[in-house]
Amino acid sequence: MKAEDELFFNDDPRLSKGFLPVAYSQEIDESLKVFEVLSNEFVLTRINGTVHAYLDRCPHRRARLSLGHCEDGVITCAYHGWRFNAKGSCIEIPALPQGPISEKAKLTVPYRVVEKFGVVFIALERPVAPPPEVKEADLSDFLEGTIAPFEERVSVGLMADNFLDVAHFPFVHRSTFGDSTDDSKAEFQVTRKDHGFEAIYEHWFINREDPLAASGLRPLRQRRRLTYRYFAPLSLTLTIDFLDSGGRNVIGFFLCPSSRDKARVLSKLWRNDLTEESFMKEAVAFEEKIIEEDLLVQRSYRELALPLNPSAELHTTADRVTTTFRRVLKEFLEA
Ligand code: FES
Ligand SMILES: [Fe+2]
Repeated sequence: MKAEDELFFNDDPRLSKGFLPVAYSQEIDESLKVFEVLSNEFVLTRINGTVHAYLDRCPHRRARLSLGHCEDGVITCAYHGWRFNAKGSCIEIPALPQGPISEKAKLTVPYRVVEKFGVVFIALERPVAPPPEVKEADLSDFLEGTIAPFEERVSVGLMADNFLDVAHFPFVHRSTFGDSTDDSKAEFQVTRKDHGFEAIYEHWFINREDPLAASGLRPLRQRRRLTYRYFAPLSLTLTIDFLDSGGRNVIGFFLCPSSRDKARVLSKLWRNDLTEESFMKEAVAFEEKIIEEDLLVQRSYRELALPLNPSAELHTTADRVTTTFRRVLKEFLEA
C-alpha cells in the first residue's frame, strides 16, 4: 500500500464504529441543537434527563428536524407537523388523522448515545471499543473545569498527536510553560490496552506554583509523573501527579470529527489541588491559552490528515508515544 493511501482524514467512515465526543452535557437541553459528526448533521436534545440524537432530517420530505421543536418528549417537524416520540417513531401525522402510520415513519438514530463525565458521545454504528474513562470525575475532592468548545479547520488525528507530544513544549509553549532548560529525553513507559494505551514518564521540574517551595520549605526542583491515556478513536487524557507537593491534575481532550475540514474540540480539567473555584477559572484560562498556542501549528497544515503509514514521516526514538498512537488508531480503524 502506498503511503498516500494511508492518510487518516476527519471524515473517515470507519470512525462510525467508535464513541465520538460531540458536546458537553451542559450544552444539551430540551431545545433541538445541531452538531455535525462525520459530515452528517445530528439534532441533540434532552428528554426526561436523557440525551437523544437524531439525524437532522425528517423522513417525510427531508426537512430539517431542527426547524421543529421538542416538548414533553415529543418532537414535532416544522414542515407538516409530523410528531415523533423519543425513540424516533412517528406517533401522529396531522394530514392523516385516522392513520395508518407506516413503520418506516421513523427518525434516523445513531447506534448509541452516552453521557460520561459531562461529555456526550455518539457511536453511529455498533462500537468496537468502549467510551473513555476518567475516574477522577467521580471523586468529590476534584474540582472540574470546562474549556469553551470550539470549531476549527484542524485534523482530529493531528490534534490528538499534538496532545500526546511533549517534544514541542519548549518551542510552541515557550511563553506559557515550556522549559527550554530541560534537556532530558522523555523516556515513556508505554503499555498497550484494548483499543488504547497508557504512557508514563517521571521527571524533575521546577515547581513555581508550590507555596512551600517558594518559601524555601521544600526544594523548588521536584518530581512529577505524566500519564497519557489514549482511548480509540478520539479521546485522550493526561494525568499529572505532583510526587513531592501532592495533588493531581487531569486534562481530558475530546475531538469530534465534524467534517473533512473541520473538528470540534472539547477539553475538561479535573484537579484536587485547588482550594477555590476561582483558581479553576484561572486554570481554564491558562489551558485555553495553551490550546491557542497549539492551534498556530494545527491550523496551518495544508492537508488535514494524519499519515498512518510509518514511512510517510520521519520518526525518532523520542516519538515513541505518538508512533504508538498511529499504530493503535490504525488497528482500531481496521478492526
Ligand atoms: S417534512 Fe417533516 S413532516 Fe413533512
Ligand atoms: Fe501543545
